[in-house]
Amino acid sequence: MIAGLHDVQIPAGAQAQAVADLWHWLLPICTLVFIAVVIALLLALRRAPRVAIDAAPDIESLSQREPKVARRVVGSAVGLSTILLLILLAASVLTDRRLAQLPLANALHIELIGYQWWWEARYDDRDPSRIFITANELHVPVGRPVIVSLVGADVIHSFWVPSLAGKKDLIPGRDQTISFRADHPGVYRGQCAEFCGYQHAKMALYVIADRADDYEQWAARQRRPAATPASEEAKRGQDLFLARSCAMCHAINGTTAQARHAPDLTHVASRMTLAAGALENTPSNRAAWMLDPQQFKPGTKMPAENLAPQELAALNAFLGSLQ
Ligand code: CUA
Repeated sequence: MIAGLHDVQIPAGAQAQAVADLWHWLLPICTLVFIAVVIALLLALRRAPRVAIDAAPDIESLSQREPKVARRVVGSAVGLSTILLLILLAASVLTDRRLAQLPLANALHIELIGYQWWWEARYDDRDPSRIFITANELHVPVGRPVIVSLVGADVIHSFWVPSLAGKKDLIPGRDQTISFRADHPGVYRGQCAEFCGYQHAKMALYVIADRADDYEQWAARQRRPAATPASEEAKRGQDLFLARSCAMCHAINGTTAQARHAPDLTHVASRMTLAAGALENTPSNRAAWMLDPQQFKPGTKMPAENLAPQELAALNAFLGSLQ
């Protein structure tokens, strides 16, 4: 399976660094508090008076004041808890401020739309002819801020790429943005972080941070329409794609397939995975997926397609040519 860094403790960008720094405050403080509470509990259990089960109830102790030591211990525990909570509050407010202070000049704008169970990404541009759409894999330039507009298309999903930024929900009807910057080239794995139905676990999102010129090359390729099929077989595959039900859901730029109910396939062969990280993108996995998607992702909206072996091979050759 495709790995990709997926670790809050290995930040690869300014936002993730701020979140990791907050975690480094939270972890030791909360660990010490937990240990102290457990010790206090054990001491209390040890010191609690024990009587025989048939002894008469002694309610005299209820009218007695607690000993001075106990009052002092409880008083200082309450005081210490208040101070620790204030420290944690200050740490999270400062982290929030740090997150909001990411410089956004010259930012890349991406609209990310969450569906059950995949992601559509629309790379915005002032020049409409430069806008392009892809799915389940984002490429971003290293060192340049990215503003992601989050749109929930059906139910609530959540954007979470732990090595790059914190989480933010995609709520239908309530669009919001999250921004991040990748400071090191690499592949970062993200995961939908809000339960969104049966295949929530198979809703991964890969962010590939490229050096600036690699990113420009990738974006230029994405803007191009699909290449004309070079082989006879791929040509037959394209005809099949347009004639069968595929074209009712998927778009391939440069062809008449323009539906937007499923991932854009214009450059599907250039992606690492299929079905939002459910499968590695290899010819055999593509074939198996087309024959029986429900086997790999039960509940996915993609129906099984009844294909003869030569038809499957042709379709697969065509999809494999979509670099
Ligand atoms: Cu989408 Cu969980």
